Amino acid sequence: MRRRGLLITLEGIDGTGKSTQQRLLVRHLRNRGLTVVSTREPGGTRVGEQVRSILLASRTGHLAPLAELALIYAARAQHLEEVVRPALARKEIVVSDRFNHASLAYQGYGRKLGVQTVRAFDRLVCGRTQADLTVVLDLDPRVALARAQGREIRRNSARGRFEAAGLEFHQRVRAGYLAIARQDPRRVKVVKADRAVAEVQTEIQEIVDAFLARRQRARGSRVSGSGIR
Ligand SMILES: Nc1ncnc2c1ncn2[C@@H]1O[C@H](COP(=O)(O)OP(=O)(O)OP(=O)(O)O)[C@@H](O)[C@H]1O
Ligand SMILES: [Mg+2]
Repeated sequence: MRRRGLLITLEGIDGTGKSTQQRLLVRHLRNRGLTVVSTREPGGTRVGEQVRSILLASRTGHLAPLAELALIYAARAQHLEEVVRPALARKEIVVSDRFNHASLAYQGYGRKLGVQTVRAFDRLVCGRTQADLTVVLDLDPRVALARAQGREIRRNSARGRFEAAGLEFHQRVRAGYLAIARQDPRRVKVVKADRAVAEVQTEIQEIVDAFLARRQRARGSRVSGSGIR
């Protein structure tokens, strides 16, 4: 069997520290001598960044939930084609700040489109390209929103549309992420994010390093096994 690279995703509601932790994780993996592609959704490509700005700009308008979902999957299709699949084919490690679990949590649970609707898009767009390992940063939405707002105020920018969506919405999204993790505990790990940045990062590194070691062992046993590829 030809092995492809690895897709690692960081998930969680706004302000849980995904981007902060992603930077540190990418540095850790590169220090280990691994080739890493660092990317994010929605975004990661020119088209994706354009979609991102539509999503952010329409906060006061009336973007139908299904239109939002379709836009996000359009950006994802582009991201997969331009960035993710080529890197996986080169056997590199892709670390993405958000990926398809975000659609399940935000659009499926948060916007109440339901899991089946999101999965229908996902089968079409992502197909077999699913995350090998996902870290969900879990935090009380009140704390997460305060963090995210603190960052926006420091940057002197308007609050993001997602952040403006309110507490109940983010509580549904959080519950969605936790439900996803319960359904797929082998691949989706929940990390408590109400701790110092370094502490959270240590746990993430332990999870990722353990995953890489398991994968290495699995490969080793295949190579030294029957020789059947
Ligand atoms: N463990 C932490 N403790 C306290 N503050 C943190 C922690 N991690 C990140 N922050 C701060 O909280 C804010 C949000 O962090 P970050 O941008 O990494 O979150 P995010 O999950 O990427 O948010 P978004 O979903 O809005 O992109 C930043 O100002 C960051 O410095
Ligand atoms: Mg971020």
